[in-house]
Amino acid sequence: MARAAFLLLPLLAALCIAEPAVYYKEEFSDGDGWTQRWVESKHKSDYGKFKLSAGKFYGDSEKDKGLQTSQDARFYAMSSRFESFSNKDQTLVIQFSVKHEQNIDCGGGYVKLFPADLEQTEMHGESEYNIMFGPDICGPPTKKVHVIFQYKKKNLQINKDIRCKDDSFTHLYTLIVRPDNTYEVKIDNSKVESGSLEEDWDFLPPKKIKDPEAKKPDDWDERPKIDDPEDKKPEDWEKPEHIPDPDAVKPEDWDEEMDGEWEPPVIQNPDYKGEWKPRQIDNPDYKGKWIHPEMDNPEYTPDSTLYSYESFGVIGLDLWQVKSGTIFDNFLMTNDEKYAEEYGNETWGVTKEAEKKMKEQQDEEDRKKQEDEENKQKEEEPQEEEDDDEEEKEEEKEEEEEEDEETPQKDEL
Ligand SMILES: *[C@@H]1O[C@H](CO)[C@@H](O)[C@H](O)[C@H]1NC(C)=O
Repeated sequence: MARAAFLLLPLLAALCIAEPAVYYKEEFSDGDGWTQRWVESKHKSDYGKFKLSAGKFYGDSEKDKGLQTSQDARFYAMSSRFESFSNKDQTLVIQFSVKHEQNIDCGGGYVKLFPADLEQTEMHGESEYNIMFGPDICGPPTKKVHVIFQYKKKNLQINKDIRCKDDSFTHLYTLIVRPDNTYEVKIDNSKVESGSLEEDWDFLPPKKIKDPEAKKPDDWDERPKIDDPEDKKPEDWEKPEHIPDPDAVKPEDWDEEMDGEWEPPVIQNPDYKGEWKPRQIDNPDYKGKWIHPEMDNPEYTPDSTLYSYESFGVIGLDLWQVKSGTIFDNFLMTNDEKYAEEYGNETWGVTKEAEKKMKEQQDEEDRKKQEDEENKQKEEEPQEEEDDDEEEKEEEKEEEEEEDEETPQKDEL
């Protein structure tokens, strides 16, 4: 007994506090170190440059340093390798932060996860990847979070619309893919979408299809109402729509020879009843709407491994940006949802408030500066105009004084 417990306890303990597997983590906290870990593609010669920066405002000048796009209207293509792994039988969490501090108009903010055999110096827009995840903005119509899975050589977009953040602050994006073929997307550590892979992407053809053999019978009556066969048009129904005005009188000075034969003007006939329509009754033969019978789709084969990829080995930023300035930071890939949430709390969660404050202060300073400049400009205006201004001001003053004089009079009443 005692011996069994002695053996079991460490095992239980180990199960309860199973260390999360961290496949990849990048915080850009070692100065230039990242330049050894990130490889720029040579597929094109004019990719935009990433630089290390915490941006114009931040919560922590060191911790918030990340990769920032630094040139407008460029493609960016850089990637980082890690020890390859498969997510078979494992949860997979992909997480990173994105800050569009430039008030982005059009540009990607997503990552691509590549199989280990990617040639990093050749990475480009068409390179085969496993998963693409993250925000994408292009004008007001496109503000979404991409979740794309590669399946049998096809890139499959999610069938739901997930809106991304479009402000200038740092936001945390998380994708969780579980071995039960469910998924979850979180923004700033809160769930924004979840469901089943099979339902929300077109991995597989539909389970059921309309039976091609089934046809609506010719005598299937889908009309809920019909004309009442008993109802007949009344004999006195037909009346002309227009009649000569019975009140019209031929003008006295009407000259038949000159003006032709007098005809009274035409008016709407008050007895006109319009087109006759038979009364409607319930159709005794009504069978309801015909529903096309469904059958199992012979093309459908279930796949319990939709979530699973043989190898992940490279994470890449393969983007187009019109206005640069986006900062990527705190990349994480792990098998542990809770750990990812904690890590998000300890990184994005710790600096977000201070970042907001600094931005607010800067906005306030900018506002003041602009005010001062406007005032200064007024002072620097040419002498003549200044005179005009002063004259105007004096006039205004006089007017005000006049008003002031009026007010007390009203009060006295
Ligand atoms: C992360 O922070 C939120 C908000 O403070 C908290 O509710 C949550 O429990 C934290 N998660 C973890 C795993 O620590």
